Amino acid sequence: MQNILILGTQWGDEGKGKIVDWLTEKCAAVVRFQGGHNAGHTLIINGKKTVLRLIPSGIMHPHVTCYIGSGVVLSPTALFNEIKELEDSGISVKTRLKIAPTTHLILPYHATLDKARETAKGDCKIGTTGRGIGPCYEDKVARRGIRIQDLKDLPTLEQKIKENLEYYNFLFENYFSIAKLDYNTILEEITLHRSELLLMIDDVPLRLHNLYKDKHKVIFEGAQGTMLDVDHGTYPFVTSSNCIAGNAAIGSGIGMHQIDYVLGIVKAYCSRVGAGPFPSQLYDPDNEHAQDEIGKFLAKEGNEFGSVTGRPRRTGWIDLPALKRAVQINGIRGLCITKLDVLDKLSEIKLCTHYLINGEKHDISPQGSIELNKCEPVFEVLEGWKTSTYGITNWNELPAQAIKYLQRIQELLEVNIDIVSTGPDRIHTITLNPFFND
Ligand code: GDP
Ligand code: IMO
Ligand code: MG
Repeated sequence: MQNILILGTQWGDEGKGKIVDWLTEKCAAVVRFQGGHNAGHTLIINGKKTVLRLIPSGIMHPHVTCYIGSGVVLSPTALFNEIKELEDSGISVKTRLKIAPTTHLILPYHATLDKARETAKGDCKIGTTGRGIGPCYEDKVARRGIRIQDLKDLPTLEQKIKENLEYYNFLFENYFSIAKLDYNTILEEITLHRSELLLMIDDVPLRLHNLYKDKHKVIFEGAQGTMLDVDHGTYPFVTSSNCIAGNAAIGSGIGMHQIDYVLGIVKAYCSRVGAGPFPSQLYDPDNEHAQDEIGKFLAKEGNEFGSVTGRPRRTGWIDLPALKRAVQINGIRGLCITKLDVLDKLSEIKLCTHYLINGEKHDISPQGSIELNKCEPVFEVLEGWKTSTYGITNWNELPAQAIKYLQRIQELLEVNIDIVSTGPDRIHTITLNPFFND
């Protein structure tokens, strides 16, 4: 196995970052191909916590080169804040981070529009991270985006910013009735890191092609999760990029055959941050009608707070119809079940095995989100194991009931489990598939 794509199968925050870091040891490179600093990927190594937003989760391994493909939307300010945090703690980044020249830049007017829209929507808001992700992708598709390679030609860059700002300021003033942004402040912000950014520009598709030819091992790191995919997720309550497997090739610039294996990261229960359908939900901190005690327990025990915004996450039982859809549309070959230890104290554990929609049984989540709003989840109940699995690294040491739970997931999804994560630290991991050992 030379290349693995690691992605989220639910609504994000499944623990992708931890697993990318764990599997990076034997790799030459890690690639981000979509999303931006809406992602928050938490790594805990020997007890020390690092949260990555834009920088691929392979950066903690000094031998690894990290690539940002053109499918990512990049805020220079966010990137340099992250680089500083890492370099302050002794991790070299600037020489090991390569960015495709075609990567679009998130500028201050994107975040302003994102937040203004959310405010205007009131109770109907999407619950975005407010980072300007959607507006930046809109500019890309509208062919007025500013890409990192535009930094090479200052006069043209200035002209592009002026034109875009004129358009955005018109919206701010006349549609949203908010303050206009100042051209010079934006230009200063973008030129502040210009020379350093220019040094990081590289031909990412060419580098990845050469790595492939020379038989180096590479990980492609997904951000967000399948149910947040702009085509296949719970639209419009989604992010603005494709988070599913197909986009790894487009967003990084490789051929489809260059991905050998798709590993789906599945949290042992479910969480969601932001608005939108969540069929197996138990608890929503913002909804007085969704205050289930077990849901609250999952949120507390799983420390379910957004790593980007700090917002409390909604929680619920594992949702197999949604996971079946994820297995199908991503071509998932193996599963990694994370946060098993969070269920340790429960006497009963439920799995949502199907939905009832207008009295009809569905064992796979329907395409589209309209029917999801009226579906009733149907649960299978298993006995809990009521003993600690925290930090277990060997499958045979897992309690029998935990094995039963994992095997039931495996059976219903018809995909093998490759990894089980039993704690947040890099080493709290059971690996059943040797990956990269060939
Ligand atoms: P990502 O966005 O998919 O990388 O996931 P996040 O980092 O946003 O959220 C996952 C959270 O769960 C982080 O706080 C991790 O440190 C933590 N985590 C990951 N795996 C485990 C696990 O197996 N057990 C526990 N208790 N925490 C975990
Ligand atoms: P990682 O990679 C969880 C959610 C937001 C919101 C919706 C749209 O850490 O799993 P956006 O700012 O992208 O326009 O917001 O998507 N969202 C995430 N939820 N994990 C993430 O990333 C997310 N990135 C975006 O909460 O509901
Ligand atoms: Mg996250």
